[in-house]
Amino acid sequence: MDILSYQSDFLTYLQSQKISREPKNLYEPIEYILQLGGKRIRPILTLIAADIFSNDYEKALPAALSVEVFHNFTLVHDDIMDDAPLRRGKKTVHEKWDINTGILSGDAMLILAYQYFENYEPAIFQKLAQLFSKTALEVCDGQQLDVDFETRNDVTIEEYIQMITLKTSVLVAAALKMGAIVANADEEQADHLYNYGLNLGIAFQLQDDYLDTFGDPESFGKQVGGDIIENKKTYLYLKALEVADESDKEKLVHLYSEKQKNNTDKVTTVSTIFKANNIPEETQKLIEYYTNKSFESIEHLTIDDAHKHGLRVFGENLMNRKV
Ligand code: IPE
Ligand code: IPE
Ligand code: MG
Ligand code: MG
Ligand code: MG
Repeated sequence: MDILSYQSDFLTYLQSQKISREPKNLYEPIEYILQLGGKRIRPILTLIAADIFSNDYEKALPAALSVEVFHNFTLVHDDIMDDAPLRRGKKTVHEKWDINTGILSGDAMLILAYQYFENYEPAIFQKLAQLFSKTALEVCDGQQLDVDFETRNDVTIEEYIQMITLKTSVLVAAALKMGAIVANADEEQADHLYNYGLNLGIAFQLQDDYLDTFGDPESFGKQVGGDIIENKKTYLYLKALEVADESDKEKLVHLYSEKQKNNTDKVTTVSTIFKANNIPEETQKLIEYYTNKSFESIEHLTIDDAHKHGLRVFGENLMNRKV
């Protein structure tokens, strides 16, 4: 299982697609965001899954592209919703163009993502479309909760985990299951792989939240502190409320009761409170917990040991990422 060769096969396939056409104000932003890079984790997972259950993972390339285009669509709209200036070290689509461009190019990407399923025969097409529609709606549910939580001050850690499961994990899980579907895998096996992705996705979003505050601004590629500026009720914040003394708690609640653009003082104060309360360590612990939980699903898979090992290494690498 060679991650780099999956990635390079995927990129070759992406480059072979002629996405750009007229009107250029609709398609240039699509090309822009898709060419900006990113880790390509979801399409790689689709290819891994297809490779595990068949000897022709290239058949899964259109499904992999669909997942990545959908993911990038969610990023374009997410950056509007989060008022984010930076993505993968470059201007976000709505900053480089404008909000209306971000909305419509995003819409077109969602449709393109569906169109790639036309590469498959009806039985596979139907299974993919069914899973995809369910997943896409769940992502919307999660994104709405994420925004609703910004102005709520009674969010629980359980609600937070549910929210990140919806906005992030279900797509990671679906990416894997789509590969299994294309490879005609046994349904029960496909579901074990889905559950592996679900827990891995939770760990992945926790790590994303961790990096949003504690990542290196030089390499992170997004605005460090963005979640703090936007009053995001992340695990970092919720855990701090749970363990901090009254004075720190009051400060946090007060700081998260209003919003100002580029509020660097707020970011500094909040991250200092997080550090003083061992929140980085607590978050790392929970990331490890969900990563290990994802490994339990691997045991239920009747696949060869090399593939099982590969899935574990993939999870461990995600846990240690800096971007
Ligand atoms: C960012 O996803 C959005 C989340 C769900 C955390 P990635 O961290 O996979 O972003 P790219 O595609 O690698 O840039
Ligand atoms: C994004 O969560 C989840 C989706 C895009 C659906 P975030 O808002 O944390 O993602 P980033 O940090 O902007 O990449
Ligand atoms: Mg965001
Ligand atoms: Mg967001
Ligand atoms: Mg984030």
